[in-house]
Amino acid sequence: MAQSIIETGTPPITPPTEHRLWGGRFEGAPALSLEELNRSLDIDKRLWREDIEGSLAWVQALLRAGVLSLDEAGALDAGLRRIAHRFAEAFPDDAPDEDIHTLVERMLYEEAGQVAGKLHTGRSRNDQVATDARLWTLRACVRIERELRAVQSALVELAAANIEVLMPAYTHMRRAQPVRVAHWLLSHFWALQRDRDRLTAAVDRVSVLPLGSGAISGSGFAVDRTLLKELLGFRHVSQNSIDAVGDRDWVCEVLFVTSMVATHLSRLAEDLIIFSSDEFRFIELPEAFTTGSSLMPQKRNPDGLELARGMAARSIGELTSALAMLKGTPSGYNKDFQEDKRLLFGAVDAMEMLLPTTRETIAGLRFNSDRLADVLSDETLLATDLADELVRRGLPFREAHAAVGRLLRSADQQGVQVSQLPESVWAAAHPQFMDPHIPTVSPEASVDARSVQGGTARPAVVGQITAARDALS
Ligand code: ARG
Repeated sequence: MAQSIIETGTPPITPPTEHRLWGGRFEGAPALSLEELNRSLDIDKRLWREDIEGSLAWVQALLRAGVLSLDEAGALDAGLRRIAHRFAEAFPDDAPDEDIHTLVERMLYEEAGQVAGKLHTGRSRNDQVATDARLWTLRACVRIERELRAVQSALVELAAANIEVLMPAYTHMRRAQPVRVAHWLLSHFWALQRDRDRLTAAVDRVSVLPLGSGAISGSGFAVDRTLLKELLGFRHVSQNSIDAVGDRDWVCEVLFVTSMVATHLSRLAEDLIIFSSDEFRFIELPEAFTTGSSLMPQKRNPDGLELARGMAARSIGELTSALAMLKGTPSGYNKDFQEDKRLLFGAVDAMEMLLPTTRETIAGLRFNSDRLADVLSDETLLATDLADELVRRGLPFREAHAAVGRLLRSADQQGVQVSQLPESVWAAAHPQFMDPHIPTVSPEASVDARSVQGGTARPAVVGQITAARDALS
């Protein structure tokens, strides 16, 4: 992706004056209440770099199309760069302008004089805003991808460091079977890996240049759109001007990816909240990622994780808002689309807060192996292994399942673990339990029996760690 093409110069500061990009046909100014509603500067000011970069590229295209003389292009170019410098120094937050495009153009009059009026030749705010927002989003996706990768890396490293540690895995939130903690950690890794793949795929569809599409029907001047694409670092040039200014499917797609990431982080957070609770005590959260209670001195609350869970709701809201914003609009640009930036910015901001906190929380996790061993001593976790052993001794699985069920019922009735049941009870549950001897099972043997790819045996998990590292490299 192209780096910023803004270079900085000296900043002359001129006070703002009235300026509007339209109005020739109007007898008066719009109602104050409409002006308030219509104004988007507070939101789209975040596009200032992209807006100026788009204009710098547009100046080059107009020059080559013979619309601007070399002097005019030079004056516009220098003026735009001075505006960028002024914004970088201090953004005029109290500017009265309708949106970022209007503000930049007004300031260009201050910087370059009347030639500023030539900049918007053959261009519309419709193709301009779509270009700015796509550029901004591409850069945001680079940052999100980097942070996602860092979270994944924290998961793999923690998995690799704890490959020997076992824990119970749950289905329906009930004890199911032993697994390696590495296996559980990596389950979250692969979910995020798919999100990163989705992000990469979405980026290709975001990376389409709308500039040159004009308001709806294409620019009336023969601008070189391939040049524009290259100057701005897009991968593709849009094929249809109506589509280029009139769709926001790419916004929805990015918002789907961010809401899927947020959903995955929320599920990870939920696991961590449960496993670190006083009832479970499987893991210890890093103290710096917990907060206290104003009343109860003993509390160390997992607020960061709860916020991750809570903020996922907002991300999902942003996606559904974008889809709802789009669904009723006719072809071409509609002002409804102004809402897209609020949604995009919100989703990206959430990612940029959640991903680093999640990464640091993971990096600081500790497993409480005494407590894990204690829970793993519950032999019901090995019931499937007992049934599997009977299958190896020749029983159909359904019969083995029923035999182990009878054994577990007896253990329940007597209030003991199955290994403490007398031989007679084993024999009554099924004679095959005695042939050649009562089976011995253990959590270690259970995880190592699952040597299939994607299973819990040590070589399978080591292979998984290698594959995970490959996916990151
Ligand atoms: N602020 C507008 C937006 O975000 C810019 C485009 C305005 N276009 C127009 N035809 N009024 O969508």
